[in-house]
Amino acid sequence: MLSKKFVKAASNAFRSSQLRNASSTKLTSAASSAKAKEQSKIGAKSQAVFDREDKYGAHNYHPLPVAIESAKGVFMWDVEGNRYFDFLSAYSAVNQGHCHPKIINTLKEQADKVTLTSRAFYNTTLGEFEEYLCRLLGFDKVLPMNTGVEAGETSIKLARKWAYNVKGVPNDQAVVLFAAENFWGRTLSAVSSSTDPSCYEGFGPYMPNFKIVPYNDLNALEEACKDFNVCAFMVEPIQGEAGVIVPSDGYYKGIREICTKNNVLWIADEIQTGLARTGKRLCVDYEDVKPDILVLGKALSGGVFPVSAVLSNDEVMLCIKPGEHGSTYGGNPLGCKVAITALEVLEEEKMAENAFNMGNLFRNELKKRLPKEMVKDIRGRGLLNAIEISKDYDAWEFCMRLRDNGLLAKPTHGDKIRFAPPLVINKDQMLEAVEIIEKTAHTF
Ligand SMILES: Cc1ncc(COP(=O)(O)O)c(C=O)c1O
Repeated sequence: MLSKKFVKAASNAFRSSQLRNASSTKLTSAASSAKAKEQSKIGAKSQAVFDREDKYGAHNYHPLPVAIESAKGVFMWDVEGNRYFDFLSAYSAVNQGHCHPKIINTLKEQADKVTLTSRAFYNTTLGEFEEYLCRLLGFDKVLPMNTGVEAGETSIKLARKWAYNVKGVPNDQAVVLFAAENFWGRTLSAVSSSTDPSCYEGFGPYMPNFKIVPYNDLNALEEACKDFNVCAFMVEPIQGEAGVIVPSDGYYKGIREICTKNNVLWIADEIQTGLARTGKRLCVDYEDVKPDILVLGKALSGGVFPVSAVLSNDEVMLCIKPGEHGSTYGGNPLGCKVAITALEVLEEEKMAENAFNMGNLFRNELKKRLPKEMVKDIRGRGLLNAIEISKDYDAWEFCMRLRDNGLLAKPTHGDKIRFAPPLVINKDQMLEAVEIIEKTAHTF
């Protein structure tokens, strides 16, 4: 049993290191008064929510202090009844908006019929989901899982099997390439491919034969692919957690060409960028190219139920045989039905088009309205955006003040703030949100 003192010390160390990472500030002198102000704005009901999580939950996150009780569309409400624009969308899982009525209706209907069969038996919704997804995205087959990181793991297992069964890589020699600054979750494989010490430090030993190439560098990729044992290159079309890093035009086409030329599988991790978030159905659609393996998650179920999927053609997918991979919940009837509706809603409500237009509006307005000395960069595609704050300002404090003004966003990698609202946001709502961001920026 850990002593109370140890737990408290560890918790404080964790929190202060998070805060240290998030700050370097013009506000340093004002930091303590800002902190007092932060405290004073927290009501008793909210504080009770924070305290309970803090006491009984692992301290593996550093949430913005706001206690959400309900949500609808682009808004969330806290326990005190305050309304907020949600500009994170659960890291792009809630593309369709919170509690979309059609998706919730499907969830309720299916919950009354059958929720889980396991893959020991056939069920009537799995095939329907597989057919819908394959036809929509133009792949032969899909392998359903639950979380994003599981789908990532699945894609790497597929690539390794393909390396041995099809490419002819000697047993246990397959190499997988990843881009520097990647993020695809927290399993041991995911942290083994990470270049971020807060992800990997203290969790070794790591998965062998994972190699890193710089992001957005086709020459480096080409060089690395010369090794015959390289079987796959896994990459996000826009790096989300790294701070919404948009690569140069031609990057996706270049990856396609290099991978084809060298008989290397291109694994596109579209867990965050996919399903209309960046203004196209898939982000790779910007250059009309198709990866060999496509990894989806998050918005695949509209933020209602964890559903992820790996898509590929038969040459790759049929390398895995019965008993070699799976998951108890993967392909469950409830998730499959919810996912079909979540995909239908994206298409019917033209959310990619809305994300494209609202994203342009958002970036153009912010570029006009935010103080130049405060903002180093405003970037993104569709509704996956970030602003990079000048070193003289504090991104965490900026988000705290946004919260006080009714908008929730979260810093990533210290000086970057991601802005990714649900894709159902309309023009009036977007202009209201932009005004909140502008007003907040002018309080510094
Ligand atoms: C690009 C990308 N891949 C994979 C993941 C992991 O998804 P999950 O948290 O559902 O495991 C994330 C999560 O943020 C992500 O952004």
